[in-house]
Amino acid sequence: MDESLPSLGRVLFTAEEIRARVHALAATIADDYAARPPLLVGVLKGSVVFLSDLMRALALPLTCDFIAISSYGAVSARSGVVRFLKDLDAPIEGRDVLIVEDIIDTGLTLRYIVRNLLERRPASLEICTLLNRPPRRLAELPLRYVGFDLPDVFVVGYGLDYHEHYRNLPYIAILEDQAVMASLR
Ligand code: PRP
Repeated sequence: MDESLPSLGRVLFTAEEIRARVHALAATIADDYAARPPLLVGVLKGSVVFLSDLMRALALPLTCDFIAISSYGAVSARSGVVRFLKDLDAPIEGRDVLIVEDIIDTGLTLRYIVRNLLERRPASLEICTLLNRPPRRLAELPLRYVGFDLPDVFVVGYGLDYHEHYRNLPYIAILEDQAVMASLR
């Protein structure tokens, strides 16, 4: 373990709690999309763990694709303008698209993605996020499927990182280091 990494605080969601919630979400999604196989769009990198579990829990035909976007810096944070580092591999016109995210915070990233994807004229476009952190929301979005609501705490694990670390934890834990929290605000 890197000595400079902040230590973890308490576990907020255990691996078993996450597994149960993912399967419940998958059951709802499978019902909703029974007649129209969805295209799952994962937003790299944080969503990969959630997406890989969710798609294996979905008992219906589906396909998946990925996008990668740059994190916006301080200058463009308010505008929510982000840049595609990797676009979808194929057109989505006429497809039933389900965006899969690990966490929605300000909502600015997803607002940009949604506006961009809607221009491509999918048959439908919905959002599925494992975590929803409303206290920092700047852009309201219709969130069709939500795993857990979060208070204003910084969490890592199950795909979520702190400077690229901790994504591989099978649970979600709070990073309680006050210096870290201050630097993130
Ligand atoms: C996270 C998350 C969303 C975005 C949400 O990605 O996966 O894409 O932040 O934040 P917002 O609602 O405030 O816009 P991050 O930039 O941490 O990249 P990562 O997925 O590669 O970890």
